[in-house]
Amino acid sequence: MFYECKGMGFAPYGDYWRQVRKMSAVELFSHQRVHSFQFVRDEEIELLINKIRSTCGKGESINLSKMLVFVSSNIVSRSILSHRSEAEDGCSKFGELVKRLMVLFTGFCVGDMFPYLRWVDVLTGYIPRGTDTSATATEWIMAELLKHPNAMKNVQQEVRNVVVGNKSKVDQDDIAKMEYLKCVVKETLRLHPPVVFVPRKTSAKIPNGGKTEKSSPERFENSSIDFQGQDFHYIPFDFGRRGCPGMSFGVASVEYVMASLLYWVDWKLPAGEIFENVDMTKLYGLTVCKKTHLHALAIPHSSF
Ligand code: HEM
Repeated sequence: MFYECKGMGFAPYGDYWRQVRKMSAVELFSHQRVHSFQFVRDEEIELLINKIRSTCGKGESINLSKMLVFVSSNIVSRSILSHRSEAEDGCSKFGELVKRLMVLFTGFCVGDMFPYLRWVDVLTGYIPRGTDTSATATEWIMAELLKHPNAMKNVQQEVRNVVVGNKSKVDQDDIAKMEYLKCVVKETLRLHPPVVFVPRKTSAKIPNGGKTEKSSPERFENSSIDFQGQDFHYIPFDFGRRGCPGMSFGVASVEYVMASLLYWVDWKLPAGEIFENVDMTKLYGLTVCKKTHLHALAIPHSSF
């Protein structure tokens, strides 16, 4: 599957890696290209929202983890390969096989370091996700919002104040104005970076020490700290030569999926679940996703 390490992420530093990195920077990850894939994001989001609408009338909770993998994989594969990767149920045989192999591969390489990766889960294919960074980020953002109803209320209010008029979709200009949403994304990437091959622990005291494990999107308000790789204490996309080339692609996807989910739908925890008890245990694989799937009740807010 890694084709003798020809995939960019696993290719050793050298001429080949330099060439594919340069090519993908122009063809896939440039600002212009990311912008040109907006029609893909629009179509996939429309399908997602329609699917949520058709399920939520029955009062059943939705498996958001599965849905987010579905939408994110399709955005990536339609942009790169021009066709969808996932079957309607979100688990095409090929997609499933790739995901299992990825988790298995990571497990073999780094299993000693990651106690949460259960071999029995890996071998039986219990883990149906964990390779998709954008879906993982979105899953953590929704989990944090469901766990913090005030932040959910604030961000939803912002999204609905910004998207005015009878629009059929949230557009890019709207997203540029969603300051609080951007803080929520940054804060979740701080608390739950989806890619951590080598886990780190801080060795020095941090200014507001003691509160750093608490989710607080406000810490990014009026702050210039960004994930572009200039602020070395905050690098969810890494930096330097092997830093993430897909940052703009990933952020565009995460912000757009989140703004749309918050605009069209009200979200609640399933009956009987309380926000203090949302399970935030991490599952370490190629990405660090939520160990248990995230379920939520969707209540449609407005219509397309
Ligand atoms: C929220 C979303 C994302 C996060 C947090 C993220 C994070 C990261 C990080 C931390 C690395 C560096 C890993 C290392 O140090 O070895 C990385 C590398 C990489 N990412 Fe992302 N990523 C995201 C989205 C994406 C997307 C959407 C794509 C492609 C469509 C992508 C493609 C890559 C590739 C190809 C590399 C390897 C680069 C190289 O080795 O030269 N990423 N990512």
